[in-house]
Amino acid sequence: MEATFVGVTEPTLDETLHDVAKHRPDGVVVVPYMLGDGVLTGRIRDGAAEFDEEYPYVDAACGDPLGTDARLLDVLGDRWQEARTDSVEMSCDTCKYKVELDGYESDVGGAKAMLRALTHQEAHADREDVADDPHTHDAPAKHVAVCTNQTCAADGAPAVLERLRQQVRDSEECDARVTRTSCLGQCGDGPNVAVYPDGVWYQRVDADDAERIVTSHLDRERIVSDLDSQLL
Ligand code: FES
Repeated sequence: MEATFVGVTEPTLDETLHDVAKHRPDGVVVVPYMLGDGVLTGRIRDGAAEFDEEYPYVDAACGDPLGTDARLLDVLGDRWQEARTDSVEMSCDTCKYKVELDGYESDVGGAKAMLRALTHQEAHADREDVADDPHTHDAPAKHVAVCTNQTCAADGAPAVLERLRQQVRDSEECDARVTRTSCLGQCGDGPNVAVYPDGVWYQRVDADDAERIVTSHLDRERIVSDLDSQLL
């Protein structure tokens, strides 16, 4: 697979297709990495067609743009929510704990990522020397992970995430960071919410439960015991 560009950035589609042709492939498929159709996808199609004509021994075709995908809408909803609640954080889309990156493959995974976050928090346990050893951020007292993977999302996780973020932002008591996570391995019992370092996992959480998790657990250290939960 070769990445290429249709605007002014190099390598251009034309350059890339000619480079690919040197390997004498039987076929080439050009896939527009774009959300929708438009002028640029038209240029990509034209580029693939010209290449097809110029190199008769290579079958060249152009695919469709990405189009609407529930996962993209999910990301869009998340960004919108962050902007709306003034809780913009560093994007996790390229975090090595969520995305398989070369050399860091073993770091990927929901629960493992949480354990790493916990270890990282330990590194900040002694904040007295923070002036001597400054760090770009303070570790929050609690990390709330909301599974927004497919099954939990279908069960209402986006609304839970939104309510948690709103409540945490409005609370004057709690010091928590609320983040999305990939599948926590409890599909069907969701939406699943995990609170660390306490190791409390709540199941079948709805938006009202989310509010109670903040006002009771995060604000006052009282686990919401009537909610389906388990200690891990
Ligand atoms: S989808 Fe949420 S736990 Fe699997």
